[in-house]
Amino acid sequence: MRSRRPHAVGWVERQRKPNGSAVRRVLGLDPTYVAAVFAFLALPAFAADPAPTRQAELDYMLRQDCGSCHGMTMKGGLGAPLLPEFLQAKAPDALAEVVLDGIPGTPMPPWRGLLTADEARWMIDRLRRGLDQ
Ligand code: HEC
Repeated sequence: MRSRRPHAVGWVERQRKPNGSAVRRVLGLDPTYVAAVFAFLALPAFAADPAPTRQAELDYMLRQDCGSCHGMTMKGGLGAPLLPEFLQAKAPDALAEVVLDGIPGTPMPPWRGLLTADEARWMIDRLRRGLDQ
């Protein structure tokens, strides 16, 4: 006699449907639900690239506002050079934090309030690629 109890394998259990086919339930959850959760988790951590119009504003800001201290071509001035070769060895998240919080005791101001975390990170990625790329 076939048992009607699901055959549990660790946290994955198999259930036999009345038509004989097997359904694998993860933690007792519906397979479609589990697939949806995994699809969500697979999204990149920085899913939110700014909209194209905002990207143009941020580009302008990089050249004008950041450029007023870092140089229009990012070669450096009052502020450190922000050319790719100077940024590549540094952690992008840490650089984005610098943009958001500034560097106390130096002229580097905080931009939080004008920029979201995603926007600061986008600007760093932009600088790491090179503004002319
Ligand atoms: C008023 C001048 C000024 C403006 C405007 C300014 N910065 Fe800075 N920034 C500095 C200075 C000065 C430093 C270096 C501080 C230090 O470490 O002595 C710096 C440092 C940095 C660093 C760290 C560089 C590194 O190699 O660690 C980043 C990244 C940075 N700025 C990005 C920006 C961005 C992006 C903007 C525009 C949103 C901006 N800065 C606007 C003055 C400025």
